[in-house]
This record gives sequence, C-alpha cells and structure tokens, in this order.
Amino acid sequence: MSRNPYESPEAARTYDEENAGRQDFDFYLELARELSPDGPGLSVLDIGAGTGALGVELAAAGHGVTGVDPALAMLDIARHRPGGEQVTWIHGYADAAPEGAADLAIMTGHVAQYFLTDDSWRELLAHVHRALRPGGRLAFESRNPGARAWERWIPEFTRGTYPHPAGGTFTSWIEMLDVQGDPAAGIIETHRGVTERAGTKSYSAPETLAFRPLATLETSLEQAGFDLERRFGDWSRGAVTAQSPEHILVSRRL
Ligand SMILES: C[S@@+](CC[C@H](N)C(=O)[O-])C[C@H]1O[C@@H](n2cnc3c(N)ncnc32)[C@H](O)[C@@H]1O
Repeated sequence: MSRNPYESPEAARTYDEENAGRQDFDFYLELARELSPDGPGLSVLDIGAGTGALGVELAAAGHGVTGVDPALAMLDIARHRPGGEQVTWIHGYADAAPEGAADLAIMTGHVAQYFLTDDSWRELLAHVHRALRPGGRLAFESRNPGARAWERWIPEFTRGTYPHPAGGTFTSWIEMLDVQGDPAAGIIETHRGVTERAGTKSYSAPETLAFRPLATLETSLEQAGFDLERRFGDWSRGAVTAQSPEHILVSRRL
C-alpha cells in the first residue's frame, strides 16, 4: 500500500483551506435530516473523517458522530477544531468502528476511491456492513470515470493560492503521474500535490485513486448485502448520466 499523503502534518494543516466551499457537505447534512424525520439523533459513522469538518457539522445538527481515520495528522486537526469534542474520534480503519451501532455510514471526500483492489473494496464493505444496524444506510460518492476528471488534474487547471494557517499564503497544484485502464473498465491513476510557500516547493506523497464504473459499484454493494436505494450524478441531486461528475450512492444494509 502506498503512503497516505494525509499523514503529513502540513497537508492536514492546509486541507481545509484547499477544500473550502464544498457542496457535498449540504448533501450529507440534508441526507441525515431526511433519515431522521422525527428529529436528529442518528448514530453516524464517518469513515475517513479527515479533518472532521463535516463530522462536527453533523454533531452540531444533533447527531451522534464517530469519525475514524488512519491519519493522525488529520485527526489532530479534527480533535482540536471548535466542536471537535462533540465527536468520538478513532484512529484507525473501518474495522475499528463499533459493531452494529450506526444508522448511517458515510465516506466523503472520495474516500471510496482509496480502495484500489477488488479485495480491499470488498473488505471495506464487509466492515461497513458489520458496523451498521440492519436497515442502516451507507452513503458515499465515487467520481464517474466517464467524466475523466483526472485529465484536468494538471497545474493549468488546479493551481490556486490560499491563506496559510500560519500567516501569508501558499500556492498549490496537482501533477498527474500515471493513468492506467480505461473508463469503461475502471481507471487507476496516481498524482501528487505540489505546494509553494515563501519560495520553497514541496511535494506530497503520491496519491493513487481508483475510478470504478457504476456497474462495478452496484454489483459490489449487492454482493456485500446492501440494497442500492438512490443514486445521484451531482451534488444537486441530478441524474446519473454518462458524463455526470459523480456517482453518489445511498444503500440500505440488508
Ligand atoms: C480526501 S480526504 C477526505 C477527508 C474527509 N472525509 C473529507 O470529506 O474532507 C481522504 C481521507 O481518507 C483517509 N483514508 C485513506 N485511506 C483510508 C482507508 N483505507 N480507510 C479509511 N480512511 C482512509 C485519509 O487519511 C484522509 O483523511
């Protein structure tokens, strides 16, 4: 397994600035509202919770949230953010989640794409199945390979300048390193982040992501004991089309 780039304290520290203004948070907050028609209080498991921004918002909305993440640097930001004390943080992978306790498991920020092999993806789904109560939901997104997002992960399209938490600014962009496969069967790509601050350039550890076709995701969910209830192609709940950016899937644990 390649090194997790989010284990870098600097990557964790600048993550929220680089990922500000996210539409996916509203989607997941609204989904939690819909799944608790009698008022908040869902038990939510956030797998790959990262810096915990969404977990804290879910907790502020009245849900009980457990966030798991293997990167201590990310969890350190999560624990210390305002409201972080309202969430239970677990350093680890999905197998560390309490059994049968969750009403809703989420994987946001495309965490699903970190599972590169069929075996690791199957194993993850089995852990989520164990962590959910019968009838509980799993919601996650995975980028649609048909939209070919990796083709835009080049400096020209990704360069941005952001405020640095320690003062001043930093500029960052993405460099594509490798692309294997084809959209119909699935893509495995590797890229890295480049950051420039005060004239010094640094490189993230390479990050490898899997882009699975929708049919592969659907079959794997069914085989893992989930009933796929809803699918969306974007954060405004648009339909899945050949080129819609996302496959956003909500499944019920059987
Ligand atoms: C792009 S960040 C997303 C963080 C957060 N979910 C969000 O929406 O901002 C990916 C996160 O997935 C975590 N991660 C990587 N591999 C993982 C795995 N096998 N199981 C759980 N989390 C993982 C990383 O440590 C990192 O915090």
